[in-house]
Formats: sequence, C-alpha cells, structure tokens
Amino acid sequence: MQTAEIRRRFLAHFEAAGHTVVPSAPLLVDDPNLLFVNAGMVPFKPYFLGQETPPYDTATSVQKCVRTLDIEEVGKTTRHGTFFQMNGNFSFGQYFKEGAITHAWRLVTGHVDDGGLGFDADSVWVTVLEGDHESRELWRSVAGLPDERIQDRDLNDNYWHMGVPGPGGPCSEIYIDRGPEYGPDGGPVVDEDRFLEIWNLVFMQEEITNVRAKDQFDVVGPLPSQNIDTGMGLERVAYLLQGKQNLYEIDDVFPVIERASELTGRRYGANHDDDVRFRVVADHVRSGLMLMGDGVTPGNESRGYVLRRLLRRAVRSMRLLGFEDPALPELLPVSKERMKASYPELEADFARIEQVAYAEEDAFRSTLGKGTQIFDVAAQKVKADGGTGLSGEAAFTLHDTYGFPIDLTLEMAQEQGLSVDADGFRALMAEQRARAKADAKAKKGVHSDTHAYRAALDANGPTDWQAYTTLSTESRVLALLSQGEAVPALTAGSIGEVVLDRTPFYAESGGQNADAGTLTWSGHGGGTAEVLDVQRPIKGLVVHQVRVLEGELVVDEQLSADVDPEWRLGARQAHSGTHVVHAALREVLGPTALQSGSYNRPGYLRLDFGWSGALSPEQLHEVEHVSNRALR
Ligand code: SER
Repeated sequence: MQTAEIRRRFLAHFEAAGHTVVPSAPLLVDDPNLLFVNAGMVPFKPYFLGQETPPYDTATSVQKCVRTLDIEEVGKTTRHGTFFQMNGNFSFGQYFKEGAITHAWRLVTGHVDDGGLGFDADSVWVTVLEGDHESRELWRSVAGLPDERIQDRDLNDNYWHMGVPGPGGPCSEIYIDRGPEYGPDGGPVVDEDRFLEIWNLVFMQEEITNVRAKDQFDVVGPLPSQNIDTGMGLERVAYLLQGKQNLYEIDDVFPVIERASELTGRRYGANHDDDVRFRVVADHVRSGLMLMGDGVTPGNESRGYVLRRLLRRAVRSMRLLGFEDPALPELLPVSKERMKASYPELEADFARIEQVAYAEEDAFRSTLGKGTQIFDVAAQKVKADGGTGLSGEAAFTLHDTYGFPIDLTLEMAQEQGLSVDADGFRALMAEQRARAKADAKAKKGVHSDTHAYRAALDANGPTDWQAYTTLSTESRVLALLSQGEAVPALTAGSIGEVVLDRTPFYAESGGQNADAGTLTWSGHGGGTAEVLDVQRPIKGLVVHQVRVLEGELVVDEQLSADVDPEWRLGARQAHSGTHVVHAALREVLGPTALQSGSYNRPGYLRLDFGWSGALSPEQLHEVEHVSNRALR
C-alpha cells in the first residue's frame, strides 16, 4: 500500500467517525520550548491545556514532524528518521480510552476492502502503563486480545509528555509482530525490532512541570478535561505494508537512494557502511527539503544550524560514496517529485528551495577545501612532534571556524593514522552550547517554564494591549515575577517581570524590538522602573521585564506606564524600512528574494534573506535606489 494511500485511509477513517480533518501545521512553531514540531499534537497544545477553546471536539491530521536528537543513528537502525509524518486523532473532552482503543483497533485490523489497514489481528501486541487496569480490560473486551499480548510497562515507556512543561498522560502502544526471523519471542518488552511500535495512544489527563527525566516530573494537576492524543508513524506503517525492511526503502524515500546509486555507481545492499550512507542521504535530503519548504534557511544557530547539518551530512555522505560533484541538484528534485503529492506547495516553491540548497552545498564545498588545508597542517604538526592524536582544541577549531563536522575530522584523522581527543572536543562543544543557551535566555528575558505566566493569565484574563492606540496608560500591577516565580514585591535595583492590567508597550514581534520606557508610581513612597524588554511568553499575556530604579514596586500598585515616544518612532521607522528594503530586493532580484528574519530598533535595521552569493555593486545600488524612491 502506497504511503499516500495509508495517509488517505487514516484521515478517511476518522473523518467518517466525525473528526474534523486539520491540515498539517508548518514545521516551525511559535513555542519557546520547541525547535520544530515533533509530534502531531503540538498544534493542538493550547486546546489540551485549556488555554484556548478548540473549534471542534475531535480532529484528525497527518502532521509533518522533525526530530534530530538521534541524527547520528540515522541509517544505522531501521527506526530513526529525522523527518516523518505522524497520523493522529485527537479528542478534546469527548471520547477517552474506550473510544481511542476502539477506533485504533478497527483501523489497524480492518479489512483493506473496508478501508482498513489489514494487519492480521494475531500479529498485534499492545503495552499499557502498569496499574492501568482499565486499558488492559478494554484491550480484552474491545479487541479480544489475550492477556499475554497486553504487556505492562512503567512510566519510562508508557507515560507520554513533551519533555518540557505541558500536558501528559499514560499511554498505550500498539505493536506489530514482524515474525521470528526478526528477533526473539516475548513481545515488545523483549524486542522492539521484531515487535515494531506503530501507534501510540495517549490518554492525556494532567499538566506536568519540572520535567527531570522521562519518568521524573511533577504533576501540576488534572487538565480541564480528559483528552486523547494519538500518534501513528506513517513511515513505519508504510514499510510494514510495503514489505520493506526500514523506512528508507518506502516509496516516498527510496527513489533518492536509487538516484544516489546511479550517480555513485555503488549498489545499495552491497555492504553495511555504504547502506548507512545511502540512508543518510535519502533521509537528510528529504528532511532538508521539507524544512526549506517551510522557510528555514541554513545558518549557524538553532533551526538554521539543524538544516545546515542535515544538508552537509547528505553531501558528505555522497562524497564518501565516491561522488564529488554537486549532489543536491541531482537528488533534491527526486525527493520533491515524491513528496509533492502530499505537499503541492513544494512544487510551487521549488525555485526558491533549490536556490537555498545549492548555495549551501557550494559553501560547504569551499569549506571542505579550506578546512582540509587547515587539517593537513595540524596533522603534519602532530606527526612532526611525534604525537599520535589531534587535540580536542584542533577538532573544535575545525568545527567552529571551518564548519567541519566532527565525524569528518575523525574520519580524516583515521586516514592519517591519527586519533582525535573526542572527549576534549565534546567538553569544548558543551561549553559553547552552555554559553549559547545562557545568551539566548538572557536575550529573551522570559522564563521557559511558563506556569507562573499561565497562573497570571488564568487569574486575570488577557492583557488589555493598547500598543496601537496610545503611548501611555494608567495601569494596575496584577503580578510580579522573579526567576519565573510570583513574588509580592520588587525592590530597588532588582530586575523582574511585571504583568499589568493594561499596557501601551509594544511587545517584541515581527522583528520589531520591544518598546523602551518607564513605569512610575506614587503609592508606597513612590518609585520608577525602567522597562528593559516586553514579551508575550504565552498567548494573551504581555510581560514587562523591568529594572526598579527607585522605591519598591508591589502587587496592586497603580502606576503610569509610559512608552518613550522617540524610541517608538525610531523602531517604527526601522520596521517600515525593512519592509521597503524587502520590496526593493524583490523588485531587483525577483520574487525568490524572500525575507527570513529581521531585527529593527531605532537607528538600526537588519533584514535577513536567502540568496545564493553576494549581490553585485550594481544590484546593491539598484536596491538602494528603489528603496529611496519609495521613501521619497
Ligand atoms: N504525542 C504522542 C507521541 O508523540 C502521540 O501522538 O507519541
């Protein structure tokens, strides 16, 4: 059964049962805790948490997901793909365990002629959270599963949460027995290769926080309603139903491997090392395509870095397979041809996507050129000094300055008979990551644990946000926060966060910096605070980060909130400026010169856009001319 057909059947099954079909959300989410959408439930999170009212009681979707935690495992096991699609059905306070189990059972074992997936009922095993007798009983009564094919597992395996504060609950997983040739008997608790998990039913019932490990977290309390969140791995079901060994061999992915095989003259299936490389190529090319399709451009930070790494690993793997010419122009179109049936926008956007991808490959090719020289010099020196290993510092410099992935350094060192101080390298990387993390946190000025914000929102409702109508309001202090926790007062000299009933302050968004200004009060001896940053950490709530200059600010204080008008004017001018420059770029360079980010504050604007190579002096001049003409 083709992947597209499995997807269609899934949606049809739930649509027939009254679910609203919701299109996949983009891979990028507005959530400080997530790099990419990594589960089908992510777009529905505010509904599960009761923060927003869903426009439907039940929904179904096939959601694009990216998980890159296991990037090193790609191709080595049968189960790790960085891009995958999650089929899901969701109930917001409607059906619960019985409904979820019934729907799932019917689809999995339903006959193909009746719209089912046609798995043999005897091949199905399930797991439940130990102590969840209700689910065990349901699997017996609804599905008629014998007791020995219903296995208990602990919190570590059968409790699902996002790994960050949010909704969670016990889950029940559905497995298919692929047969004795794939491993020992005994069900999923014994072997998860033979028994392949295809579907996770989550009985979402509580909000959790302070997540320390998969099985260590604190429960905040029950959710407003009992919900269902399920996730079926579309690619996994596809490889089972297509009789393949792994997700790299399914109809949507394998054509890239075939093309790579033609280009390199090597055969897939001939030896393990090459097979892993072929799979890395196929997986990463597709993930890169989908990320670029959703507007990610390669860069050195966060999302852009993940994309860069994927593309570079794909290119490097092609080299290791013996192909030295530009590889992406050969492979990306193949992946697009397969994916466009489900995602037609890829076709429409392909000119832009191609440009981004090929420019990145070109840049990497020159990185390889330069880095290789640096590597050779370092390697010669080690040898001349009678050493046998490259220092962690050398590996780190190659990585940090020349963009050399560590696996590349390791491999090249091995070719020269040298080792690499990988521990030293990792320590330097960890230091760098810690610095980057601290920077990002400091920059944002908001706490990533949002429970105190949510408490403020629940207690008082959304902030009356008057940024578009006035520069000054009389406001009341609803809540004060320090280090993410509510506090009764902020004293002179301290930095903390302030929630007001109404505010004229523009919160950072659309690339425009937050307003600067002051809060001034006369009660309790009076005082002033300088507004350092303004953010909306959760929908509806505006939070001011302030430094108290004088006096003490207490909850309930009446104060005057005043935006610095000069600042605001400057920020607006800069923000308008980026739009003008963007329009000019598109006029001069064409419609694929798309903005990917911007930052505007008084006297400063920065516009990021994806383009292959630097602009010529004539083009720059032309952009300047078009912008100035528009301004005049
Ligand atoms: N959220 C669950 C998962 O990701 C089920 O969709 O496995």
